[in-house]
Amino acid sequence: MNNFVYHNPTKLVFGKGQIARLAELIPAEKHVMITFGGGSVKRNGVYEQVVNALAGRDFVEFWGIEPNPSVETLRKAIALGKEHKVDFLLAVGGGSVVDGTKLISAGLMYDGDAWDLVLKGSYNKTVPLATVLTMSATGSEMNNGAVISRYETKEKYAFYSNYPVFSILDPETLFSLPKRQIACGLADTFVHVLEQYMTTTGQSRLMDRWSEGILHTVVETAPQALSDKPDYDTMSEYMLSATLALNDMIRMGVSQDWATHMIGHELTALHGLTHGATLAIVINGTLRVLRDQKHAKLLQYGERIWGITGGSEEERIDRTIARTEEFFRSLGLSTHLAEEGIGEATIAEVERRFNAQGVHYGEAGNVDGAMARRILEACL
Ligand code: NZQ
Ligand code: ZN
Repeated sequence: MNNFVYHNPTKLVFGKGQIARLAELIPAEKHVMITFGGGSVKRNGVYEQVVNALAGRDFVEFWGIEPNPSVETLRKAIALGKEHKVDFLLAVGGGSVVDGTKLISAGLMYDGDAWDLVLKGSYNKTVPLATVLTMSATGSEMNNGAVISRYETKEKYAFYSNYPVFSILDPETLFSLPKRQIACGLADTFVHVLEQYMTTTGQSRLMDRWSEGILHTVVETAPQALSDKPDYDTMSEYMLSATLALNDMIRMGVSQDWATHMIGHELTALHGLTHGATLAIVINGTLRVLRDQKHAKLLQYGERIWGITGGSEEERIDRTIARTEEFFRSLGLSTHLAEEGIGEATIAEVERRFNAQGVHYGEAGNVDGAMARRILEACL
């Protein structure tokens, strides 16, 4: 195992009815700004639960953080927060609202333009933030990452700042999610685990087993989560799986990849394709192109997750990659770029951007522009 520091300070408050505890969780003297997306919380009753819980408290509301939050919108939130001398942020929504609020929390402590912070990549002077999560996928409710877009230039980059002080996870908030959002959330969760697991074998039995536990849970609960009547216990497993998949827990002392995500972010930036939907396509290309590098781990994953044992090693890997793609299709997601109308022009642009930035992503640092092209061509 590699050396590591693990320090995740987020308090998880899990279960039905827990939104009512907001007043006890946010210190009484705070000037709060509550941030929202486009209005789903007004239709499913979450907004009402939040304002009832905070009745009589000092807060201002900011609405309109988009899926794939934009710096253009977040600048307005930062200006409003500065005007009201906000010293506590409460994000109510999915990963996009939480991510956007992380940039707001840094922007409130910074005098320049918020996009500078994104380009810096991290900033640790922040206003405390907490979340009421309504869409499970990103793990943003229990990590310090955010992904921010600049619509004007079609760019999308990761930014690191603070962990939420607390996050309320009430699985009942997920009942109003459209099936496609749930499918994308399950795909994102699954690929988060693969980004931290699908590297080399023999680094940590414990990390492998935790990762495999999340993968099994996602595979087992997906059909029920996507059924017409998902139940509370299923949504609880889905919700907690998404949080544990990206809260630093399964990456202690082991190498990570993340090339699929970096390529996926480009597809979202260029086409607006939902994050989880990009991953359900790109991961198959990553596994096909890097199958030799990931040979031993693919065999382990195939056997332990999909029960694939017979045949030669190459045959087992073929079946493992095919079975993975089948899983994403069972969620109702596309697994080929062509199905989303994406082709050579986009591949060329991703290659150009990676080359211009001189990046080398992936566990082995070998995913540059040329490799990104090969991966995307393997997804056509
Ligand atoms: O905006 P509203 O009206 O709230 O609607 C949202 C939005 O349209 C809707 N929604 C959310 N909760 C709902 C609901 N609709 C009905 N009922 C509910 N309970 O769902 C839509 C999508 O929401 P969004 O927040 O965009 O989804 P998600 O949580 O998947 O977040 C995606 C963003 O997170 C980034 C992605 O790149 C993308 O920008 N990521 C963040 C990460 C992190 N912070 O660590 C890691 C991830 O890999 C990812 O890159
Ligand atoms: Zn993701």
